Amino acid sequence: MKRRDLDYVVITLLVGSSIYVFATGLVADTMGLHHFGLHSQVGYLWMSLAVMHLIQTWVRVKAFARNRFRPAKSSLATHSALGAQGFAPAPLPNAPESTAQVPKPSAHPPFGKKRRYFLLAILAIATGIGFDRLVTPSDSASLADVDNDVGLLYHRWSQPGYGEAIATILNWGQQPPLYKTYPDSPPLDLPPPALEGVSTQDLTATILKRRSHRNYNASKALPLLQLSQVLHLAQGITDENRDFRTVPSSGALYPLEIYAIVHRVEGLEPGLYHHAIQHHQLELVKAGDLRQPLIKAGLSQDFLGEAQVCFVVSGIFQRTRWKYHERTYRYVLMEAGHLGQNLYLAATALNLGVCGIGAFFDDSLNELLNLDGQTEAAVYLVTVGERA
Ligand SMILES: Cc1cc2nc3c(=O)[nH]c(=O)nc-3n(C[C@H](O)[C@H](O)[C@H](O)COP(=O)(O)O)c2cc1C
Repeated sequence: MKRRDLDYVVITLLVGSSIYVFATGLVADTMGLHHFGLHSQVGYLWMSLAVMHLIQTWVRVKAFARNRFRPAKSSLATHSALGAQGFAPAPLPNAPESTAQVPKPSAHPPFGKKRRYFLLAILAIATGIGFDRLVTPSDSASLADVDNDVGLLYHRWSQPGYGEAIATILNWGQQPPLYKTYPDSPPLDLPPPALEGVSTQDLTATILKRRSHRNYNASKALPLLQLSQVLHLAQGITDENRDFRTVPSSGALYPLEIYAIVHRVEGLEPGLYHHAIQHHQLELVKAGDLRQPLIKAGLSQDFLGEAQVCFVVSGIFQRTRWKYHERTYRYVLMEAGHLGQNLYLAATALNLGVCGIGAFFDDSLNELLNLDGQTEAAVYLVTVGERA
C-alpha cells in the first residue's frame, strides 16, 4: 500500500470513529447512561488513529508551525513545503524547487473570512437550538396540559431529549463529596453487624412476611447490634474496593443519607444521629427526647414516637445532579425506595416491626434535622422497633 493510500485509510477511519464517538457520547449524555455500546473502545481507536495521522503528517505540521511562528524568516520556504494552498503534501526531496512566485500566506485571516467564520458559528448555534426544539418532546408542556399536576409536569420535562446535549454545556455544578461528616461530633462505633444471625430466614420467606407495623412495645429497648445490622443492610458498604453499597444507585453516586432518631436503643442516649456509612459509625447531631417534634412533623402519627427508632432518609441532590441533570429527582426518589425496601426486609428478617412514612411536613422535619431542604432534604421516614 502506498503511503498516500494509507493516509486516506487513516483519515477515513478517523472520521468514522470520531462520528461514532460523538454519536454514542451524545446518546449516553442525553439518556443519562453510564456507558454506551463500544464508546470507550472506539475512543481508544480514535486516539490511536489521531496519533498515526499526526506521525504521517508530521513534516507538514512542523512546516506549518514554522511558517506560523517565524513568518519573516522562513515563510516562503515552508510555504512551498505546505503547498500553494497550505495543505498539499510536501514535495519529494529530489523534486525540482518551484521558482514560481507564490503569495505569502497571511498569519491572520482577512476580515471578510473572519466574518464568514463568525456567521458560520452563529448558524451552528442556531441549528443546535432548532435541533433541540425539534427533538425535545416535553418543551411545550405547561401546567395546564397536565391538569395542574406539578409532578406530572416534572415527569414530562425530565424526559431525555437530544437537546440535552446542548444543555450539558450549561453549568450543572460540581460533584460534592460522597460522604457527609459531622467533624464536631465524636463518632460512636457501631458493633460489627454480624450478619450470620440475620440469614435465619430465607429471602422468599422474608419478602412474603413483610408488613407495615405501627404498634411497638414501648417498654423495650432495641439492642445496639440490631440497629447496626439494620443500618448495614439498609445501605452499608458491601464492596470495599469500589465502595459500592447494598442499595443500587444511579452512577454509584449515592445521594442518600440516613439519620436515626433514637428513642430507645441500648447504650445510646436519645437523640438524632447521623450514620457515617464509610466507617459504620454514628455521629450525634442533637441529643434529647425528640418524640414530640417528630410526631408533630409527621402529621401527628403517634407511632413515630412509639417505635424504638425512626430513620430519616434524606437526599443530597447535587451528588446526582452534576451528572444526571433533570433526571436527578426521579433517581433520588427511586433510590430512597430501594433503601426503604432494604430497611423493611432487614427489620422483617430480624422479627422487628417496620413502617415507611411519606406523610410529613417537609419544613418541620428538615428543621428538626438542621437541613436546608434545598441542598439536602428529608424524603422518607421509616420506623423500626420491637413489635407490641
Ligand atoms: C411511599 C410510602 C409512604 C407511606 N406513608 C405512610 C404514612 O404516612 N403513614 C402510614 O401509616 N403508612 C404509610 N405507608 C405504609 C403503607 O400504608 C403500607 O405500605 C400499605 O398500607 C400496605 O401495607 P403493607 O406495607 O403492610 O403491605 C407508606 C408506604 C409507602 C411506600
